[in-house]
Amino acid sequence: MKKFIELLNDEMMDAFEKAGYDRALGRVGVSNRPDLCEYQCNGAMSGAKAYHKAPFMIAEEVAGFLAGSKVFSSVEAVKPGFLNLNISEKFISDYAKEMFASEKFGIEEPEKKQTIVIDYGGPNVAKPLHVGHLRPAIIGESIKRIARYAGHKVIGDVHLGDWGMPMGQIITELKERKPELVYFDESFEGDYPEEAPFTISELEEIYPVASGKCKTDEEYKKKALQNTKELQDGRKGYRALWQQVLKVSVADLKRNYEKLDVSFDLWMGESDVDDMIPPMVEKMKSDGFAHISEGALVVDIAEETDKKELPPCIVLKSDGAANYETTDLATIKYREDNFDPDAILYVVDKRQELHFIQVFRTSRKCGIAKQDTSLEFIGFGTMNGPGGKPFKTRDGGVLRLEYLLKEIEDKMFVKISENKDLPKDEARNTAKITALAALKYGDLSNQASKDYIFDTERFTASEGDTGPYLLYTMVRIRSILAKYKEQGGEIGQGDLIACAEACGAGKSVLLDVAGFSKMVEEAFAERAPHKVCAFVYKLANDFNSFYHEVKILAEEDEDKKKSYVSMLAGVLSVFETCIGLLGFESPERM
Ligand code: ARG
Repeated sequence: MKKFIELLNDEMMDAFEKAGYDRALGRVGVSNRPDLCEYQCNGAMSGAKAYHKAPFMIAEEVAGFLAGSKVFSSVEAVKPGFLNLNISEKFISDYAKEMFASEKFGIEEPEKKQTIVIDYGGPNVAKPLHVGHLRPAIIGESIKRIARYAGHKVIGDVHLGDWGMPMGQIITELKERKPELVYFDESFEGDYPEEAPFTISELEEIYPVASGKCKTDEEYKKKALQNTKELQDGRKGYRALWQQVLKVSVADLKRNYEKLDVSFDLWMGESDVDDMIPPMVEKMKSDGFAHISEGALVVDIAEETDKKELPPCIVLKSDGAANYETTDLATIKYREDNFDPDAILYVVDKRQELHFIQVFRTSRKCGIAKQDTSLEFIGFGTMNGPGGKPFKTRDGGVLRLEYLLKEIEDKMFVKISENKDLPKDEARNTAKITALAALKYGDLSNQASKDYIFDTERFTASEGDTGPYLLYTMVRIRSILAKYKEQGGEIGQGDLIACAEACGAGKSVLLDVAGFSKMVEEAFAERAPHKVCAFVYKLANDFNSFYHEVKILAEEDEDKKKSYVSMLAGVLSVFETCIGLLGFESPERM
């Protein structure tokens, strides 16, 4: 289906042309004076100079050609030269009806289906997920779903931190504690045990101890470095032990991401591209892009237009070891070789921006990324705790994600239990669903790049711009539809004109809905889930006004009632689609 705004543009552009003006002047936009009109066109103002005419005159002439328009119910030229527009009730209700009946609400397939890799999540093995991992997971998942819905091929990759020094540290600490393990016996020839020699809780305890010791104990650090090197060089026992670390850790990560309803197509990590590093670096050298500076191998990335001086990208440290930049470069190569993507998106903390500038420029310069692969850094801001301070537990540690989730869930449970009709089990489950909505909506309704304050009280409120408000609205619609069915009504795709005529709010609901495909297009193009939030919030507000103004099931005119119910069913499915794009679900009852 053509976008609603395109239809308005067509109509207005035709009028400009008929009046003898450039079509392009006929662009229509949402009114910035909603008290006066629904849409407006400022073309007469922009055209005045070229045509040496007063804008008001142009506007009046154009308005003349729109008398009897099927699209606009009123076209008013106002001084100094605006065209104030209202949409015909019939036109909007026909459009909405067609949308409701169309697959994906009439969204058209993209002209070119893109392949997009999204790198999000970025957890590190052997470390628990903490609040810092919340944003990449939530934002990345939503961007993935939006891109997929817009019709593109999307590959989500978790990009595990599973290589390098932390792995050597864990091995070192395990060796201190359990030197008798076969993994440390270099003469061992058999098969290594199936079972890991540690649990996830032990692993999570071991890693911080080991990394702490490295900071204070030189001897220990040396051992850890040596073990890291031996692991990377392929010592059999270490590799097998590392595989156990991965296995235990990934199982736990998957369990945690599942709770967030976040899933990845690929569980690849930094280690997977390790083999690609030496030939890649060799080529960077032989092509003359990498050179030695202060002992390290670097690529200069500074450009003339830079406002501040950017340090070169280090590809091999002075000890010859690869680093975070090298891994990301090799990962680009891997993705180019295997997926030939149109774009690679990185949903990562905005404090890593310099790292990505270095990596992107180096990969272009050295021909690792194709010239036309779009490399995009989607840097997100910090989620702060109350008072705007970084999120910490009471004793100052980082807050585990599980605990944060549990806290919100308990809060929602108390609220939901106020509804005495809900059995306890159902209330628990509903609390889970609602908590996730509160959390995700609270995050996604902010522009990703901004810092925000995580405020449990505000996020779980049932009124205002929150996830629970949305879910309450959906549950309300669901319950009306259920009652209608109980009364023997059948929900079909009825005519919607009665909704548009019932009250301003009814018409607003239809106008909101009509903007769906444009919203999806923009949310995709700008990688902006907050646009989906703004869309559903407005729709929920307008719907609730309609609900308060209009008697729906008590309506005596059966045709009108049918019309209202059709709109409710359509709006509910729009809501469902949108919260799906945001990454959460709605409960049956609350
Ligand atoms: N594991 C990294 C960290 O904890 C984040 C990874 C982000 N993705 C990437 N391709 N560098 O900082």
